Amino acid sequence: MVETMNTAELDAIAQKMVADGKGILAADESTGTIQKRFDAIGVENTEDNRRDYRELMFRTTPAMRDYISGVILFDETIRQKAKDGTPLVQLIEAAGAIPGIKVDAGAKPLPFCPGETITEGLDGLGGRLKDYYKLGARFAKWRAVIDIGAGIPSYTAIRANAHALARYAALCQENQIVPIVEPEVLMDGDHDIARCYDVTEWTLKTVFEELYYQRVRLEGMVLKPNMIVPGKKSASKVAVEEVAEKTVRVLKACVPSAVPGIAFLSGGQSDEEATAHLDAMVKQGGLPWKLTYSYGRALQAAPQKAWSGKAENVGAAQSAFTHRARMNSLAALGQWSAEQERKQAA
Ligand code: 13P
Repeated sequence: MVETMNTAELDAIAQKMVADGKGILAADESTGTIQKRFDAIGVENTEDNRRDYRELMFRTTPAMRDYISGVILFDETIRQKAKDGTPLVQLIEAAGAIPGIKVDAGAKPLPFCPGETITEGLDGLGGRLKDYYKLGARFAKWRAVIDIGAGIPSYTAIRANAHALARYAALCQENQIVPIVEPEVLMDGDHDIARCYDVTEWTLKTVFEELYYQRVRLEGMVLKPNMIVPGKKSASKVAVEEVAEKTVRVLKACVPSAVPGIAFLSGGQSDEEATAHLDAMVKQGGLPWKLTYSYGRALQAAPQKAWSGKAENVGAAQSAFTHRARMNSLAALGQWSAEQERKQAA
């Protein structure tokens, strides 16, 4: 146990991040990733356009107030000001949500492991976390990427990524910041759901072992995993109930109940799939942790399309965001239904 750490405060932030009916907006796309999103809607990737887009999201009330517990930001965004000069961080705080920050430096090729990556960014991280705390961040995110393919993942990749995640998490907690621990097993391949289950189990077991060795306080963190789904290029179609059953099963086998909450990534699922899967898991009941969303694409695809870079579309984009956030909030409470989705959209 680290003496300097205020554990009560740390745990309280973690619990607030997964409060009932609330989830996390992952708006931490790097400049390169937001380029892909803007390309899809024909918007030029300028600093002003990135600011305008984030500002419209963070000003969306009541969605931000009622359905979003925290927002993950990119380095540029945590320093950016709205058009009227208000720091974007203040807009988030004014809505009652917690500002967070992506602190990893991205997934880079892992030596001697073709097709695999290691997430970088540990050097100097303690100092950067101190700066981010001063800028208002109370939680952070680090994403490790595990790809499934012929002969991969390797032990090397899983072990190295889990170790880095644990080093990051310990540095966060020492600096009074709640770590979101994100080991993402990608859904890009042609593998079936059983292989996703096995690789995710291996990954999570290793991550929690490393968290233990790095003395990370489980009560003061949030896990951000993938769901158990077949690869996107696989022909198999799997029922919502099967995804929910397998995902809960692997989490129960790997995630200690000291962890207050699990906030899923959407990982390329459609908006409605991501919502339906979460809802089905929560409906199972009897879970030892909160389950909620920390979606990027599954919360933002609709508002991005509605906005398309035009000031006159800001209202429509905010409505689209509110709708998606509300559907996911209902799912996190186990109260969503496909009928409700259509009724709300009408
Ligand atoms: P997606 O929900 O689009 O997978 O993004 C979540 C995220 O933060 C990935 O790191």
